[in-house]
Amino acid sequence: MSKKSRSQQWFGGDSMNAFIHRSWMKNGGLPDDMFDGRPVIGICNTFSEFTPCNAHFRGLVEHIKAGVLDAGGFPLEFPVFSCGESILRPGAMLFRNLAAMDAEEAIRANPMDGVILMAGCDKTTPSLLMGAASVDLPSILISGGPMLNGRHRGGILGSGTDIWRLSEEVRAGVISREEFVAAESGMSRSPGHCTTMGTASTMASMSEALGVTLPGNAAYPAVDARRAKLARLTGRRAVEMVKEDLRLSHLLTRQAFINAIRVNAALGGSTNAVLHLLALAGRMEVELTLQDWDDAGRSVPTLANVMPSGKYLMEEFCYAGGVPAVQSEIRDLLDLSVMTASGKTLGENLEGVENFNTDVIRTRDNPIVENGGIVVLRGNLVPDGAVIKPSAATPALMKHRGKAVVFTSMQDYKARIDDPDLEVDENSILVLQNCGPKGFPGMPEVGNMGLPRKLLKKGIRDLVRISDARMSGTAFGTVVLHAAPEAAVGGPIVLVRDGDIIELDVEGRRLHLDVDEAELERRRMDWSPPHAPETGYKGLYIRHVMQADKGADFDFLVGCRGSEVAEDSH
Ligand code: FES
Repeated sequence: MSKKSRSQQWFGGDSMNAFIHRSWMKNGGLPDDMFDGRPVIGICNTFSEFTPCNAHFRGLVEHIKAGVLDAGGFPLEFPVFSCGESILRPGAMLFRNLAAMDAEEAIRANPMDGVILMAGCDKTTPSLLMGAASVDLPSILISGGPMLNGRHRGGILGSGTDIWRLSEEVRAGVISREEFVAAESGMSRSPGHCTTMGTASTMASMSEALGVTLPGNAAYPAVDARRAKLARLTGRRAVEMVKEDLRLSHLLTRQAFINAIRVNAALGGSTNAVLHLLALAGRMEVELTLQDWDDAGRSVPTLANVMPSGKYLMEEFCYAGGVPAVQSEIRDLLDLSVMTASGKTLGENLEGVENFNTDVIRTRDNPIVENGGIVVLRGNLVPDGAVIKPSAATPALMKHRGKAVVFTSMQDYKARIDDPDLEVDENSILVLQNCGPKGFPGMPEVGNMGLPRKLLKKGIRDLVRISDARMSGTAFGTVVLHAAPEAAVGGPIVLVRDGDIIELDVEGRRLHLDVDEAELERRRMDWSPPHAPETGYKGLYIRHVMQADKGADFDFLVGCRGSEVAEDSH
């Protein structure tokens, strides 16, 4: 190891500063030779008991540290803000960029030569990757792994996906409140993150598809011994990556992002991946646009028969072969020459990979959906784009013309959705405004608005829904999301009124508000921005968050700022 390593800028030599840097670290009993120039590996841990999906990380990190020590490195764990999805208010997405800032500054400010990112719950993965990308040290990610399958009354329950169904059934009076409550324990019965191909499993899979994890990262359950083994191997590999100077910028190339978009289509992955990959590409200064999602992913068949697009959960997906088996099925659509964190190309990683269950991971001639992927819609209602996930939508609604039922906010929606006098029927299109990045703020996962009770009682289970919000990766329905520009900046979605005719044509990539331009202009003149100035982090967020088609990162965080820190306060 060269004396010029990054950590040796702190720990090497005989200066007063070197004494300070070493001496305080030794208060934990570290021997002198830990500062001899061996690679220092920072372990960025998103453990929090308020993030139940990551609450097992105190155990997992010990396997990582053992791996770093095996390979002759020096592991040092540090905490960053833990962006848990299920608890944080008003929503974890509001804090993704804050967590990314925390990770970036913590990595840069500390004497590490490489970094291991411990992620699990939805936003913990993109926030760590975004922060690490802006520093660009040798970096590798390990996910915490999904929970074991939910089990209830002899069947399986998928995180999130079955909540939407159960909550609509309890509202419709189909199941009792007692059964609803009993399902809670059965759904979450081991450590780990959501069991469906929701955003957490999607982002774990995207990390694997981008090549920033070891193969197999996404699918091993949190409690599977192979997860602990992967953690140990990840620790070892991080040390080797420092020696090879294999940095994120060598892995996160445009080809890797296009590969990931295609894998996302084959997985039926979350629409949230669109935002996170766009933001990550921005950090890495890689050219990637919203349109790339449609161009690269649309023709790829969905093969993973996993909720919400299919019927199985991540546990079966693991036993069938996980992400490598999916990559192998679509290998002709991938650039196999990209380098990965394993030190091998994707093509080399896929040698010998098998699909062990062709009902869980379908073959190309028997897909779940012929053309999976994310469709990017455009039109006078969404000039900068909106997205829909056809694999989670109702085929009969993919081309639809209906009257708008407009809600101006989440509060307005909650107050009126079950009003018996609400003018709504099975042909209506629900429109939700002011839930975009700036509008809520933080772009909540409310785009899959629950249906009016009176339609649920008639057996209606899907309507076209349009918003500038996001949707949980575990959700389903004919749901148009991420409308850009959003309502809060005067995007056309704010001009929609009750009774307006909207045309959705997924095949034609079109979302049209059938109101003449003069009338829209008149409405535009009546509009004024909704926000009183905010202070604190929320104020910073509203001032600097970019629109959904740019990944909703902060404008001042785009780009890679490197790992150099010239100043030292001592
Ligand atoms: Fe954490 Fe779903 S709530 S992964």
